Amino acid sequence: MRAFAITGVSRGLGAALFTLLVEGGHRVLAIGRRFAPEQEEAARREPDRIRLHTADLADPPEVRTAFEALWDGAESAHLIQNAAVVEPIGAIGTLTRSELVRAVAVNQTAPMLITNDFLAARPEGRPATVLFISSGAATRPIQGWGLYCATKAGGEMFHLVAAEEHPDVRIVNVNPGRMDTGMQAVLRGADFPDAAHYIEAYERGEIPDPADVARRIHSEFLSPLP
Ligand SMILES: NC(=O)c1ccc[n+]([C@@H]2O[C@H](COP(=O)([O-])OP(=O)(O)OC[C@H]3O[C@@H](n4cnc5c(N)ncnc54)[C@H](OP(=O)(O)O)[C@@H]3O)[C@@H](O)[C@H]2O)c1
Repeated sequence: MRAFAITGVSRGLGAALFTLLVEGGHRVLAIGRRFAPEQEEAARREPDRIRLHTADLADPPEVRTAFEALWDGAESAHLIQNAAVVEPIGAIGTLTRSELVRAVAVNQTAPMLITNDFLAARPEGRPATVLFISSGAATRPIQGWGLYCATKAGGEMFHLVAAEEHPDVRIVNVNPGRMDTGMQAVLRGADFPDAAHYIEAYERGEIPDPADVARRIHSEFLSPLP
């Protein structure tokens, strides 16, 4: 039995990946503050295989015990750090204190704590993967996206260090590219210097479906696993 943990499955890329993992017959632990009705139904039907752990990542949860249960009897386990927020959008100097603290918690503190708990719970020598779903924004400054750029850059560096420290675990930063999700809708409604570009790309039909992106990530990083 292969086991998977994933954050932020209520919608977008996380929902598409959750569906693939559940359909694949794996053990799945989903962490998030809410779940879709069909996800709750799946967990009710198969409570031993599909577990939903309710947590607001703005107040990062302690998940080591949940990971110990995930690893129990699994031949390998694979963590997908997917949940993130793009807001607040605005120039540095205009951000509110609470929004700033919240975005850092969701995008950076929570993934760091969750990866730490995952690696701590891993039985020695057991095959494992950690995917940090990042963004092109981690490596280029975008005006109005200071928090998103900085938290993705920080999350990437944390996972680069983890990869050096744990050479026997596959730890990868993954840029999924643009996807037609709630996050893109937020960008189309937001005020920042490059906003028109996001509206035009959407109107030209250039934004991929998250289900296609999920299939690509799954086949590239999650299919040829032990
Ligand atoms: N969409 C793009 O174009 C794009 C491009 C590059 C990278 N990415 C990255 O891809 C990943 C998935 O993005 P997406 O487009 O699928 O985003 P999305 O549609 O906005 O979905 C984000 C997911 O994260 C969860 N989440 C947000 N805040 C949370 C919190 N405080 N606690 C728990 N869960 C929380 C959401 O749950 P709720 O329903 O509870 O809010 C939702 O399930 C993200 O890491 C994003 O940065 C996206």
